[in-house]
Amino acid sequence: MLPVVSHATGVYVFDEAGKEYLDGCSGAVNVNLGHGVEDITKRMHDQIDKVCFTYRTQFRSRPLEQLTEHLKQLAPGEVSEVVYGNSGSDAIETALRLVTLLNARSYRPFKSTVLTEEPSYHGMTAGALAASGHPLRREHLTPLLANQATVAKVRPKNGALRADVEDWEEAIERIGPANLAAVIIEPVGGASSGAAPADRETLRRLRELADEHRFVLVADEVMSGLGRTGTWFASQHAGIAPDVTVVGKGMSSGYAPISATLISPSVAGQFDVPVSSLLFGHTMAGAPLAAAAGLAVVEYSRSEQIPQKAARAGERLRQILEDVTGRHPLVTGVRGVGLQLALGLHSDPDRFPGTSADLTRAAREEGLLLYPAGIGPRWESVLVTPPLTISDRELDDLAVRLDRALLRLAPRAARTTGAALPATV
Ligand SMILES: Cc1ncc(COP(=O)(O)O)c(C=O)c1O
Repeated sequence: MLPVVSHATGVYVFDEAGKEYLDGCSGAVNVNLGHGVEDITKRMHDQIDKVCFTYRTQFRSRPLEQLTEHLKQLAPGEVSEVVYGNSGSDAIETALRLVTLLNARSYRPFKSTVLTEEPSYHGMTAGALAASGHPLRREHLTPLLANQATVAKVRPKNGALRADVEDWEEAIERIGPANLAAVIIEPVGGASSGAAPADRETLRRLRELADEHRFVLVADEVMSGLGRTGTWFASQHAGIAPDVTVVGKGMSSGYAPISATLISPSVAGQFDVPVSSLLFGHTMAGAPLAAAAGLAVVEYSRSEQIPQKAARAGERLRQILEDVTGRHPLVTGVRGVGLQLALGLHSDPDRFPGTSADLTRAAREEGLLLYPAGIGPRWESVLVTPPLTISDRELDDLAVRLDRALLRLAPRAARTTGAALPATV
């Protein structure tokens, strides 16, 4: 049974029995600023006292307008419209509705295929799930995925973790570029591939192909956006500006549900009315309280230079994880960018997922929260993605807890990999 949470502060969460957990995965890789940051909660309280909800067709709100300005300034490339949602999944749905409307209104209904990667994860709503290359999360749900006929998948060859330029080019050729409405890609993977990054050359080539064949390039930055990979957006590592960027998770650092779909002029300019007037959306989307939380998070992240902090802490954590890899044969290696990192794991030959679930459980015993990842044995891993504000001392604490958790699995590791038992800490 899961423990009952009592309270949390910074990178530590406490249960009702008084046990302390180091949040080594920022909840679901969303609590980017850590727990209980007063700069955020105080501003949320102020907003609660003013007004929590007004509907977007009846009022504008200052926090939402200011948040929109920040996102426009920080995004890769120009953004002309920002459409708000409550979750990463519904912001992906917005992107799907956008590309569908674009082609329907331009008399190109045949241009309807959305190409995504397996592995990928884009959300649990029906459209986003159909677009996800995550067989475990899709299992038995096929009857719900009405749009799956218009989704195609590209799969990495030769045992690779992510598709490369050749894989994408072949897939686009197979579909026929004239039929391709959009490509959706995670610049750095999350729960499906275990933080495996798309290579930069692939992202740059997709940008060229999108311009050549006039499909919409959508970057799913729900996990990687707003600082996690050491830059504001992971696309910036490759120097590309997608047509649409989707953000969620770290945008509010878990303080309130809010997400956004950022739309460039290359797409918005093809409509003769504001896109937001066509897309509709959810009741709570962009309501003042969530907007105030998002605004407080983004302003705090700018003033505290959170992406730079993530880059620095990411280097130190990578070193820690590489040391761990050397000591524990169950670990196959380290991957990821900035503080979006993962430990690759030897898969249990008898069961998948196995090792990642066991390590997550052992870590919890040792007071460390990790996030299991991978869509198959090749990708079996755990995400190690602490808050971007984590200090050096807290990273050392994480290292000790992780080492202890891996030691708990050492007898299993010896059986699975045939390696000798490691020395104790
Ligand atoms: C890359 C990516 N896209 C979309 C989503 C869906 O976001 P949400 O769970 O907020 O609906 C997630 C969630 O894990 C994600 O990692």
